[in-house]
This record gives sequence, C-alpha cells and structure tokens, in this order.
Amino acid sequence: MTPQTTFPQAGLTETIREDLIDSLPSRDANNIGVEHGAKYRTSEWYTGSGEIVPGNDSRSFEVTATFTLKAQVKLIQGIFDPSNPNLAEIYNSRGRCIAIIDQTVDKLYGESVRQYFDTHEIPLQMNVCRAWEADKTPETVHRLLEFLGKDGCDVSRNEPVLVIGGGVLSDVAGLACALQHRRTPYIMVGTTIVAAIDAGPSPRTCTNGKQFKNSIGAYHPPVLTLVDRTFFRSLATGHIRNGMAEIIKMAVTDDKVLFELLEDYGSRLVETHFATLGDDQELAKVADEVIYRALFSYMKYEGTNMFETYQDRPHAYGHTWSPRYEPAAKLMHGHAVSTGMAYGATLATKLGWLQPTERDRILALIRSLGLSVYHPILEDIDLMIAGQQNMRRKRGDGGLWAPLPCGIGVCDYAKEVPPDVLEAAVADHKAVCAMFPDGGAGVEMYLKDLGLE
Ligand SMILES: NC(=O)c1ccc[n+]([C@@H]2O[C@H](COP(=O)([O-])OP(=O)(O)OC[C@H]3O[C@@H](n4cnc5c(N)ncnc54)[C@H](O)[C@@H]3O)[C@@H](O)[C@H]2O)c1
Repeated sequence: MTPQTTFPQAGLTETIREDLIDSLPSRDANNIGVEHGAKYRTSEWYTGSGEIVPGNDSRSFEVTATFTLKAQVKLIQGIFDPSNPNLAEIYNSRGRCIAIIDQTVDKLYGESVRQYFDTHEIPLQMNVCRAWEADKTPETVHRLLEFLGKDGCDVSRNEPVLVIGGGVLSDVAGLACALQHRRTPYIMVGTTIVAAIDAGPSPRTCTNGKQFKNSIGAYHPPVLTLVDRTFFRSLATGHIRNGMAEIIKMAVTDDKVLFELLEDYGSRLVETHFATLGDDQELAKVADEVIYRALFSYMKYEGTNMFETYQDRPHAYGHTWSPRYEPAAKLMHGHAVSTGMAYGATLATKLGWLQPTERDRILALIRSLGLSVYHPILEDIDLMIAGQQNMRRKRGDGGLWAPLPCGIGVCDYAKEVPPDVLEAAVADHKAVCAMFPDGGAGVEMYLKDLGLE
C-alpha cells in the first residue's frame, strides 16, 4: 500500500529542511504536525493541513492541501461609540489600526471613527477612498496597494485592515488585501445594506472588467464582519431598496419565514431605513431579525463554500443574466437583480417548477418594495444569451446552474436554459408585467454614479 503522511502546513516545511530532520522527534506525521503547526503559524487567522503521497517509483508524488479559515459575523449597535470595546480589543494589542474608508462615509462618520481610536489611544492610519461604481477598477486596487505596501503603512501579514464602507469598497479593498502579502486579513464594517448582508461578508472580492461586472478578483473573505444597522439611517432610500433585493433573493430561495416578514414589514423597513428613523421598538426587533436571517441564510451557503468549489448557490438567484445587462442598461444593482429574480420566477413557472400564484407572490413582494420586475433590455435576446454564455464559463462549464425557485423558500438549479426556452420565457414575462400600470418599472432604477457616463 502507498504510504500516506499528513502534516499540518508548517510541519511539512520543517520535515524537508535537511538541518532539522535529525532533530525531529519521530516520523509520526501527526505528532510533528501538531507541534510545528502551532509554533510556526503565519497568521492567527488561518490554519491548514496537507498531505503528501509518494508514488511507488521514487520519481513522483502527489500533494494536497486544505486551507481553513474562520469568518465571524456579529450584529452590534454603535460600533464607533467609544464605550464599545469590539474594535479597541482587536487593535489595542497591535499598537495601531490601518483603515480604508469610503469617501462619503468618511464625511458622515469619519470624525466618530477618529474620535473612537483617539479615545482608546490607538494610532489610526486611514485611507479615504472614493468608491463609486465607476471606481471599481484595477487602478483603484493599485492605489490601495500603495497605501498598504512599503511606500504606505507597510501592513503586516497578521494585521487586520479595517474596511468601512459599502459593497464597492468591500470588493476593491478586499481584493487589495487579498493581493497584499498574497493574503492580508481584514475586518469589514458594512455601511450599506448590501455590504452588511452580502458583499461585506462575501469572499468574492473583485473589480469590474470592461464588459462584465465583478469579473476580476480573488476569494478572500473578511475575518470578521461587523453589522451595525445604525449606518442605514443616512443611506439614500434608493440604496435601502438596493439592499432589499439581496434580502429577497435569500427569502425566495431559502427562507420562507424571511419572505413572510418582508411581505408584512418590508415597505415599513424601507420607509424607516430599517427602523433607524423614528422610534418603533417593535419594528427595530423585526429589522434585526430580517438582517440576521438574511445574513445567516447567505453565509450558510456562501460561508461554507468560500472558494466556490460548488455551484449550488441559492444566492446567485437574480444574478445569472443580470451581470451582462446591468451595466448595459445602467441599472442600479438592486434593480438589475430584482428584474433577474422576477424573470427567473416566470422562467421557473414556464418550466413547471413554480405555481403561477407563487410567481405572482414573488413579483408582488418585489414591487411592494419599489424594485423593478421588468426592463425592456430583457428583450435583447442576443445580450441575454451572451450573458448566459459568460455565466456558464464563470460557473465552470459544467452547467449554467441557474438557481430558480420551486416554491417560496426553496430552489433548484437549471443546468441549461435552451435559447428558445429563454426567449419564450421573456415573452411570457413581458406579458405578465404588461398588466402593471408602470410596466414593471421600479423607483429610481438607474445608476446615478458620476463618472459612469
Ligand atoms: N462581492 C460580492 O459578493 C457582492 C455582493 C453583492 C454586491 N456586490 C457589489 O456591491 C456593489 C453595491 O454595493 P452598495 O449597494 O453597498 O453600493 P456602494 O458601495 O456604491 O454604496 C452606495 C452609496 O452609498 C454611500 N454610502 C455608503 N454607506 C453609506 C451610509 N451609511 N450613509 C450614506 N451613504 C453611504 C456610498 O458612498 C455610495 O455612494 C456593487 O458593485 C455590487 O457588484 C458584491
């Protein structure tokens, strides 16, 4: 039988260093590993193990390695309230905090952030970064790398960078952290709903490519995501709606209770910016439950499949065709996703997976929150097919694996959607949406970022 030896990562290095071989206690891999693994760890945030299997011919061998990371997510209120110990406890022992903050968030909350670290006598080096959708480019990532690198604050590989902002910042700053030292940890404070419940804890850091959104990136989740809905108070209502789209996708595909909560309270949550405007304590409890459920459901799939090794990903609902038409139609991300979800519901009905009444319930929920269910760009079948082809490549060419609902709170995956079915479902969807007085349009559906024209 082929001998098989398991080493924790650092132990493996030691065993091949000639000068150390004699000093090793034994060739018992497990013993060596535990000892050396703890002693020579690169970073407190990550662990791993490996396996080397020699061939029988003394001329070949096979190596496998597993990388383990822990990502924590916490809901807290008042992150930068000086009495809140969460961040101080992390950065005190490190003697400083290196941070990247969204320019708009800096204007609104920068003073509180500085005050917080001042009160705790922790030196703060903070880069203020403009993070419009149009800034989601490799150039922005390069600028952040200059800040993190030798010419900037020379971050250590075991020093978590604090990232404070929305989904655009979490994508680009997360990618910069992934590239710096090949992996530098970061802590995410998501200040928009999208960043709090989706882009923030997500491992998918990225920039946009020329034609496709989010097409260049690396898998690098934050080691800790702190979610504080008090930031939502200052968000534009359009961005609250945007975030709702990402919550609806988890409700439709995975969590019926969440779906019902949104039916009952969704529009009040939009109006009150998740119970941060006004003083409705009952609604505040619902807001926390909605955020927690959406996060839990998302991380249940995304967090346990950090490297997208598998494509049964319910959170890709609404994200199969829209990444191609979102930039072309200059839609807000949430509206692109909501039209994608609505189209997906009609397609699922056509395939016999979903009852028409369930489709109508999904469309009614999306519309009740001011999100779009239809945009004429869906009729550009060539574009839809191009989007589908791109997604097939992105999902590994084993299939399209488009998540589609097969009830409320459950989904399955379409391996293929033939062009004629795709086109017929667009016609069905157009007919369904023609019954709405506004044709299925949403409120403030277009992107207003400067610099995108
Ligand atoms: N990586 C992923 O898994 C993932 C998932 C979902 C979305 N995304 C990406 O996230 C991006 C959208 O994120 P977003 O919706 O957070 O947009 P965003 O980051 O553009 O933020 C929206 C706007 O709100 C401002 N802002 C941020 N926090 C604020 C606050 N508390 N008060 C007032 N203004 C505030 C920002 O400056 C910006 O102008 C898209 O690029 C999308 O592709 C990524």
